[in-house]
Order: sequence, then C-alpha cells, then structure tokens
Amino acid sequence: MLFGPPGAGKGTQAGRIVQATGKPQVSTGDMLRAAVENGTELGRIAKGYMESGGLVPDEVIIGLIEERIKQPDAIGGLLFDGFPRTIPQAEALEKIAPVSMVIAIHVEDESIVERICGRFTCASCGEVYHDIFRPCKTESVCDSCNGTEFKRRADDSEATVRNRLSAYHEQTSPLESWYFDRGLLRRIDGNHSIEQVGQEISNLLDE
Ligand code: AP5
Ligand code: MG
Repeated sequence: MLFGPPGAGKGTQAGRIVQATGKPQVSTGDMLRAAVENGTELGRIAKGYMESGGLVPDEVIIGLIEERIKQPDAIGGLLFDGFPRTIPQAEALEKIAPVSMVIAIHVEDESIVERICGRFTCASCGEVYHDIFRPCKTESVCDSCNGTEFKRRADDSEATVRNRLSAYHEQTSPLESWYFDRGLLRRIDGNHSIEQVGQEISNLLDE
C-alpha cells in the first residue's frame, strides 16, 4: 500500500512498482475519476466531494473496494494507491484482506502545491508528468506510449489542494500510527528525486 499526502508521488511510484512486480495498481482516485468521466451513479455521488477536495464517504469507497477485490487479477495481491484514507476504511480492509506493507511517503506541505499545480498525465496511458520535475523526453509526446494528448485534473488547483491537504492531515494521517502499531509501516523521505524515491521503495520491497 502506498500512503501519503496529495502529490507525494503515490501514482508516480505505483507505476514503477507495477512494472517491477506485475501486481495491479488500485487507485481509488483513478477509479472515481473514471466514474465521473463515464457519468455513472458512483461518479455522480463522488463528483462534488472530489471537486471540493473532501473525501468521498467511507461506505461508497468500501463498497468499491469490496467489488474490486473480487476481480480475478486480485488473487496474487494488489497495490493500493490512495486507499485506505480513514480508519473506518482500514478497519473494513482488515476484515476482507491482509495487508503486507504500508509505505508512507513523506513530503512537506510547501512542496505539494508546486508538485500538484505542475502535474499533467497522458490521456491514453495515464503516465504521470510534471512541467518541471518530470517533463516528457520529447516535448508533448508521451515517453511510454507516444500519445500526444495530455490532461490536467479538475481538482489540481491551488485552492482545492489546500482542502485536500486539510483532509489528509485531519482524516488520513492518523492511519500512519494505526499501521505503525500493527508493525506494517515503513516511512520514506519523498523529497528526493523520483529515481531516488523509487530506489528506496524497491529496497523495501526486496526486504
Ligand atoms: P487521489 O487521486 O488519490 O489524489 P491524492 O491522494 O490527492 O493524490 P494525488 O494523486 O494528487 O498525488 P500522488 O501522490 O498520486 O502524486 P503523483 O505521483 O501524481 O484522490 C483524489 C480525490 O478522490 C480525493 O481528494 C478524494 O475526494 C477522492 N478519494 C480518492 N480515494 C479516496 C478514498 N480512499 N477515500 C475517500 N475519498 C477518496 O505526483 C504529483 C506530481 O508530482 C506529478 O506531477 C509528479 O510528476 C510529481 N512528482 C512525483 N514524485 C516527485 C518527486 N520525487 N520529485 C518531484 N516531483 C515529483
Ligand atoms: Mg495519484
């Protein structure tokens, strides 16, 4: 499980872990954004919470994960990115599947706004980029799939990021000690380069 504030690099590092381990990434944020784009009932419920930077209600998220865990590709294990985000979500997960490791990526609040406001992703494959920290190798061409369409998230404005940070500090960060108490937490410093953080994570996965 990858744990950390908005913009910590969970999605960026998840992409690398998926390549290295073959385990599917389960990002509740990505699942909710897809639901909003497709105009489903789930998307209709989630949209307002996401736009304001608040958390989507626990029962909605728990239902989503219960369904996801039943998919055949979950049998060999999953990589959670951005789930759980509250203690009730962690308690629900504990009842349905064991957690082997929680990697908490630490980044200062001041760096987060800069990271989030410069983020863009490939519209075809979802590869995560940054205007300054992770530009495409060839301008406007995705390194991974050669796609040329990119998008920016509706909730990546400075005002919304501040709300997402408050939600993180108030509702999500208490989970760190919850997992520490269960002996599952590993902390890493996310203020280094994407490669350095990736190396630290792969050292942990080799443990
Ligand atoms: P979600 O999509 O999970 O967003 P988030 O937690 O706010 O995290 P982000 O995706 O913004 O950041 P990230 O850590 O993945 O960073 P990234 O790798 O992209 O959730 C969105 C919303 O959905 C929530 O606000 C909530 O409403 C709802 N939601 C989702 N899950 C929920 C749940 N379980 N319960 C309730 N509600 C839920 O990196 C960011 C940028 O920084 C990129 O541009 C990247 O290139 C750059 N970068 C990455 N690493 C580095 C580095 N080391 N150095 C420099 N730049 C870097
Ligand atoms: Mg993400």
